[in-house]
Amino acid sequence: MGYHESEHTKNVRDWKEVFDFLIKDPSFLPASPETEDDEIRTLSNQWPETPPQFREVCQTYAREVEKLGYKLLELISLSLGLPSNRLNGYFEDHTTMMRLNHYPPCPCPELALGVGRHKDAGALTIVAQDDVGGLQVRRKSDEVWVPVKPTPNALVINVGDTIQVWSNEAYESVEHRVVVNSERERFSIPVFFFPSHYVMVKPLEELVNEGNPPKYKPYNFGKFFVARNRSDYKKLEVQNIQISDFKII
Ligand code: OGA
Ligand code: NI
Repeated sequence: MGYHESEHTKNVRDWKEVFDFLIKDPSFLPASPETEDDEIRTLSNQWPETPPQFREVCQTYAREVEKLGYKLLELISLSLGLPSNRLNGYFEDHTTMMRLNHYPPCPCPELALGVGRHKDAGALTIVAQDDVGGLQVRRKSDEVWVPVKPTPNALVINVGDTIQVWSNEAYESVEHRVVVNSERERFSIPVFFFPSHYVMVKPLEELVNEGNPPKYKPYNFGKFFVARNRSDYKKLEVQNIQISDFKII
């Protein structure tokens, strides 16, 4: 955890640099995506010494966004007809991460993306963005990329893959990407809400029945996440793991 600048999304290098840190330090993830390997890896933050207030400011912001995240999870549970705390247990040892994104101006913005098209793997993502713009979501009806216009003092909430599976597709995760421009740098701050690594993600039992059978096979969140991340830093020939790999047809 800390600074890095060579993430690949869908096997193409992103035009960005980032600083990542965990809200729970340390956090735990599987050491490898292999199912037979049960070794666990400990992750911890690496904070720079300067600027001196950096760590404190980041942690204070992260704590507030964490409270908002739980509030949203509670509202989503209620909207599905479940008790408000139904999802909380999945986050006891959460692996939630906050990211500072910096997208430098790009001399050929038509040839690069800040972040290539993707869906967020976790439950929810809460994003703060500056006034530059660049985030786009894919509209399902006509597959057009629609800009998410920056609104002052507002946050963008993305539903991620985990909620799509838990809700058996009552909610759908949104496909999105970030375009860059040749004039202005852009900053954004997503907080990715990830469950505990050992959570088996599957459609919630209360939501499935004969008329609405489960649309996904259970999968281990940590293994899924590590498999997806493993391909994030190298160019592979194949697409990385997706929830569609667990879809029951
Ligand atoms: C991401 C992401 C959006 C943004 O980092 O997963 O989609 O506005 N970022 O920077
Ligand atoms: Ni994203």
